[in-house]
Amino acid sequence: MRVAGIERFGRVVQTLEVAEPRALREGEVLIEVKAAGVGNWDDIVRVGAWEVGRAPPMALGVEAAGIIAALGPGVEGWSVGDEALTHPLPLADQGTWAPWLIARAELLARKPALVSWAVAGAFAVPALTAFQVVDDALRVRPGETLLVNGAGGVTGGLIVSFAVLRGARVLATAGPSSRQQVIRAGAETAVDYHDADWPRRILVATGGRGLDAAANAARGGVAAALRPVRDGGRLATITSDPPEPERGIDISSVYVRPDAAQLERAVQALGGGGLEFKLGARFPLAQAGAALERAKRGTGGAVALEL
Ligand SMILES: NC(=O)c1ccc[n+]([C@@H]2O[C@H](COP(=O)([O-])OP(=O)(O)OC[C@H]3O[C@@H](n4cnc5c(N)ncnc54)[C@H](OP(=O)(O)O)[C@@H]3O)[C@@H](O)[C@H]2O)c1
Repeated sequence: MRVAGIERFGRVVQTLEVAEPRALREGEVLIEVKAAGVGNWDDIVRVGAWEVGRAPPMALGVEAAGIIAALGPGVEGWSVGDEALTHPLPLADQGTWAPWLIARAELLARKPALVSWAVAGAFAVPALTAFQVVDDALRVRPGETLLVNGAGGVTGGLIVSFAVLRGARVLATAGPSSRQQVIRAGAETAVDYHDADWPRRILVATGGRGLDAAANAARGGVAAALRPVRDGGRLATITSDPPEPERGIDISSVYVRPDAAQLERAVQALGGGGLEFKLGARFPLAQAGAALERAKRGTGGAVALEL
């Protein structure tokens, strides 16, 4: 089949021929991919720095949405024709930038009818990351005050939404072009990170008490995000740069992991209109390289390949 991916780690993204999907094993389904997400994390896979379960030549892509075309032995609860989305790691065969995907059924979530293919295809990684920051790493409780640094990004914006759904008071950083969207997601205030004094402004917004918790989704932003956190508070970062612990603050570095139950809850919230998630661009499979460049620029929303 014709996919978008790499011949070797470090090579540019191109279209290439790989073998047709193999026979399904116990617990696997075959998905006709309708859309697949493209994120800056795919570049980490491209250079061989994120182990996703297979080596090139390979299709890239670690999230997708599509229609179940066949069931392997022992699959229960799913039927041919069902619509699903998934973050299918470790990859069972090829990545998701392909017309067909083999995935473990236990990693699938149902796609609500109101959610478009492109949105569903680009949703799993940022949504699971945000969910795992808010519920697993920070364990955000109602009434707590939380900072989201980098709330203008796709994942950052979902962290705002999930924290608001948990009843937190959310303070955020965002550039001028993202401010309105961050406020729409439920942040009480969004300070411009271009102002070097922003951590002090956030501290002032807490009445000087300090934040209960902070989520950092901005590359290079974790030290600034730590400053307004109160002694004994919590900080989670998704940019692989956890700071040295200080003042009794609990620090976690979050790496997304597949979780069908979390994904199902997240996509239901999306289908119910409870989340702010912006799709920035759609590309055909043949333009996956351009799609990845767009995702790496990191402004203007999520990026999807449509098949
Ligand atoms: N660990 C994991 O498992 C995991 C999972 C997903 C993502 N990530 C990483 O997390 C980071 C954010 O992901 P994303 O999906 O939200 O990225 P994104 O959609 O590419 O967001 C980038 C946004 O960050 C904002 N930004 C840039 N510089 C900033 C700064 N100095 N301070 C505050 N905000 C700044 C900009 O927003 P404005 O529009 O407001 O200027 C920009 O639009 C990326 O580095 C990504 O690779 C990690």
